[in-house]
Amino acid sequence: MTAKLIDGKAFAATVRAKVAAHVAQIKEENGITPGLAVVLVGEDPASQVYVRSKGKQTVEVGMNSYEHKLEADTSEADLLALIDRLNKDPDVHGILVQLPLPKHLDSDLVINSINPAKDVDGFHISNVGLLGTGQKSMVPCTPLGSLMMLRDYHGSLSGLNAVVIGRSNIVGKPMANLLLGDSCTVTIAHSRTKDLPSVVRQADIVVAAVGRPEMVTGDWIKPGATVIDVGINRIERDGKTALVGDCEFASCAEVAGAITPVPGGVGPMTIACLLANTLTACCRAHGLREPEGLTA
Ligand code: GUN
Repeated sequence: MTAKLIDGKAFAATVRAKVAAHVAQIKEENGITPGLAVVLVGEDPASQVYVRSKGKQTVEVGMNSYEHKLEADTSEADLLALIDRLNKDPDVHGILVQLPLPKHLDSDLVINSINPAKDVDGFHISNVGLLGTGQKSMVPCTPLGSLMMLRDYHGSLSGLNAVVIGRSNIVGKPMANLLLGDSCTVTIAHSRTKDLPSVVRQADIVVAAVGRPEMVTGDWIKPGATVIDVGINRIERDGKTALVGDCEFASCAEVAGAITPVPGGVGPMTIACLLANTLTACCRAHGLREPEGLTA
C-alpha cells in the first residue's frame, strides 16, 4: 500500500470533540441545550442500530436526544402530526426521520413536512435548492463529512477534477454540489456512464457512492488521486460476513495518494456531521455564532 490512509474514525472523534466544546459553551453562556429528535417507523434492524448509535452519540456530546419509535403500520396522518409537534417544539433543534420508511408512507411528503431549519439531514426540497444555488443551507451528513476530510487533506480543492460515482439524492447529487462550491470541475457518473473506468481515470478526487461491492479497482485510479469510498456493503467471503466499500481497497490503495478505508472511513463521519448539523441548527435558531469548520 502506498496511499495515505484517511482515518475517518479519528477525524469523527475530533468533530465530536469540537461539537461537545461548543455545546458546553452555549449551555454555560446562553442556557441553551441543543436537542435532536429521531423518528423511527417500524423495526428494520439496520435502522434500529443506527438510531441507537445516533441517540448515544447525541447524549455524549451534551445534547438532548428525543427518540420516537412508531409502529410499522403508523398512518401518514399520525406521522405528519408528530412532525408538526416537533416542528413547533422549541427544545427540538434538529429532526431526523430515519429512512427507508415503510412502503405505505410517502417519503418525499414526510421529509418535506419537516421545518427546513430543523432538517438536519438536509433532504428537504428547500435545503436541496439552497445547496444547489450556493446559499446557506442544512447539508446532508455523508457528503458534508466527505467534504471535511477532502478539505483537511488537500487544503484548497479549487480546480481539481472530481468524479462522483452515483447520482443519489442522499450522497451523489449533494456531493457534486459541494465539490462545485469548492471550485472543483465535477463529473457525476452512474450506471449508464459509457466507459466508466476511463472517466474515473481523469479524476484527482474520486467519490464512490454506488452501493456495488468493490466495483472500483486500482486500474481505474489516476496515480496519486484521492479516493473517498462511501460504500458500505456486506458480503460473504471465506464463509464469513465482511464489510467492504465500493472500491477494492488493496488495489486502489496501491495507486491512490490517499484513501478512506471501509469500515472506519466515511461511515463514522456521518453521525459526527449529524451532531454538527444539530448544533448549527440550534445556533441559527437562537441567533448565536455558528461553530467554525463544521459547516459547508
Ligand atoms: N438511512 C440511511 N442513511 C440515512 C441518513 O443519512 N438519514 C436518514 N434519515 N436515514 C438514513
